Amino acid sequence: MPDTSVRIGSLVLKNPVLAASGTFGFGGDYARLYDVSRLGGIVSKAITLRPRAGNPPPRLWETPCGLLNSIGLENPGLEAFLAEELPRMRELGTAVIVNVWGEDPEEYGELVSRLSLPGVDAIELNLSCPNVRGKGLVGENPEATARVVAVCRRATDKDLWVKFPPQGEVLQAARAAQQAGATAISAANTYRGLAIELETGRPVFANAIGGLSGPAIKPLSLRLVYELSQVVSLPVIGSGGIVSWQDAVEFIMAGAHAVQVGTGNFIDPLCAPKLVRGLRKFLVQRGLGSWELIRGCAHRGGISGAA
Ligand SMILES: Cc1cc2nc3c(=O)[nH]c(=O)nc-3n(C[C@H](O)[C@H](O)[C@H](O)COP(=O)(O)O)c2cc1C
Repeated sequence: MPDTSVRIGSLVLKNPVLAASGTFGFGGDYARLYDVSRLGGIVSKAITLRPRAGNPPPRLWETPCGLLNSIGLENPGLEAFLAEELPRMRELGTAVIVNVWGEDPEEYGELVSRLSLPGVDAIELNLSCPNVRGKGLVGENPEATARVVAVCRRATDKDLWVKFPPQGEVLQAARAAQQAGATAISAANTYRGLAIELETGRPVFANAIGGLSGPAIKPLSLRLVYELSQVVSLPVIGSGGIVSWQDAVEFIMAGAHAVQVGTGNFIDPLCAPKLVRGLRKFLVQRGLGSWELIRGCAHRGGISGAA
């Protein structure tokens, strides 16, 4: 039997498949459909200090092979998350990663400090949100990234996954995050996109810009993971258009330690467990004992011995 597990900082995931933030709620709805303990982990919806109502509708807009969203960080806020959602997430039998979003470095610091609790396996700092007006560019900037990560590093002993937008000076910002004490790099969030309604000539979203996800962005995010894994020595967690085990293998071959399934959960609610099964079968059929041999093999001229 192959060892499907992966280590990310102090955390060992039973397999490299995680549910991506904002596409899986807190896991409860999916737990009604399948045993979510089969997943490597679940990343929560972004939690903010205070509850947020999010943006006015519409919030989702389908595009060819993709999805634009403008959710606007709707979430119950830290207090309600700690009281109601976190205890339920802990019951799901898999790693719990809490995604957080703050207005400024101090707010991020307060969030991670108050989340330094047993049962929180890692904290993912969401340094981008393309659909909040005037915000969301922290991860595009190395200095701003370093400030947030440094404050959070001082505020908690928990593993810090730093999640980047796909645009801006991301490679430099990831290096800055590593220096400031990040445990892992998560890449990437959605791409800034726009849809216009022909009848009215107005953007479909109240804030105009939305975030593009789904298969349409896969080659772009795969390229970013490939580049990031060359410039940092931290584990990289890939997301962006992963809907099949083959997609996930490509990300691992590009250098990812783990992958996150986002929009894939909307296309097929069983997408993530199907990936888990497909990845295990891949290791068995290739006679691989673990992910070591193929992780990052795209940088080394491919799988050694492959024709
Ligand atoms: C509806 C929706 C909500 C999202 N909310 C969050 C969020 O709260 N925090 C975050 O870091 N990323 C959020 N994301 C980004 C996803 O976690 C993921 O990184 C991105 O969608 C790319 O992966 P995908 O193509 O598999 O969806 C959201 C994405 C979607 C589609």
